[in-house]
Amino acid sequence: MMIRILGIESSCDDTSAAVIENGYILSNKTANQQIHKQFGGVVPELASRAHQQNIIPVVDAALKEAGIKPSDLQAVAYARGPGLMGALLVGSSFAKGLSMALGIPIIETNHLHAHILSLFIKKYDSSTSVPSFPFLCLLVSGGHTQFVVMRSHLEMEIIGQTIDDAAGEAFDKCAKLMGLPYPGGPFIDKLAASGNPKAFTFSKSGVKGLDVSFSGLKTSFLYFLQDRVKSDPKFIKNNLADLCASIQRAIIDTLIAKLVTASVRTGINEVCLAGGVSANSGLREAISKKGAEIGWTVYFPEIIYTTDNAAMIAVAGYYKYLSGKFSDYEAVPVARAGQL
Ligand code: KG4
Ligand code: ZN
Repeated sequence: MMIRILGIESSCDDTSAAVIENGYILSNKTANQQIHKQFGGVVPELASRAHQQNIIPVVDAALKEAGIKPSDLQAVAYARGPGLMGALLVGSSFAKGLSMALGIPIIETNHLHAHILSLFIKKYDSSTSVPSFPFLCLLVSGGHTQFVVMRSHLEMEIIGQTIDDAAGEAFDKCAKLMGLPYPGGPFIDKLAASGNPKAFTFSKSGVKGLDVSFSGLKTSFLYFLQDRVKSDPKFIKNNLADLCASIQRAIIDTLIAKLVTASVRTGINEVCLAGGVSANSGLREAISKKGAEIGWTVYFPEIIYTTDNAAMIAVAGYYKYLSGKFSDYEAVPVARAGQL
């Protein structure tokens, strides 16, 4: 039986639509909102308006690329949260309207759960190796940083998380302090490649157990820069690559130390990354290296499925469809992860 799910993602500043057929990707189209760049961060009101403009053309493009008609769909899945309320309302309202018009089920998905299920997006023209259950996932995005145990496609247990900034936020805020554009994570990643990660050290805040904190590191980075710039106004410009490599290393070290603890505590050696920051080449390299050292089998999502995309929403919708987990039209978007 063919199960084709249309996924809709609109939780932050990407309007995305994708079609998944029996777990295999047929299309994934995203309209990125460039308007936020000039403000150095996402402006919620502008994001909602841009989603409103983009949603129909993006869905239309996804259906065309998949080579199917709306009537070929078996269900519509959307991101119910967490995210920006006005942004989520656009995707959820559109998904409900389409589901009603087509007379097919609606499936709500948790954006964070969907990031993890991006590891299961299959392709018709190449094979994908997927983790087996239970596995440990470090979910690192712009809004969240969590250590999760996945016991099945639909069972996720959060065993640790950040108590303040998310890893992506730490990248973006530190990038801003160096005058880099928003979002700064990819710029730090690129510049770090030619820098010395041991050039500078910054103090990190220690948190017990499996929780992490990045606000101390960010403050330490800020004071360090202020101090150096006082005596050398060109300090940042002249040391940009080393600064990027060093701050990236500090973020990665914090994450890897907790991941090791999580693996020891749970006894799980299947280790995965997901979320926007999982595109970071330094983090991928460090996890692969640590994994080779201590016997992890490591899995990463394909780069195009690391940052926000609807393919992950559609694949999460597919697994919920298989379990008969449908939603209803009364479900309203939720802004915070804890409310889902
Ligand atoms: O998952 P995502 O697209 O959105 C949220 O759900 O938050 O993640 C966006 C985050 C941003 O903070 C961005 O700077 C970060 O992912 N990011 C990276 C890289 N690519 C994206 N951070 C470090 N290195 C990268 N290559
Ligand atoms: Zn995300």
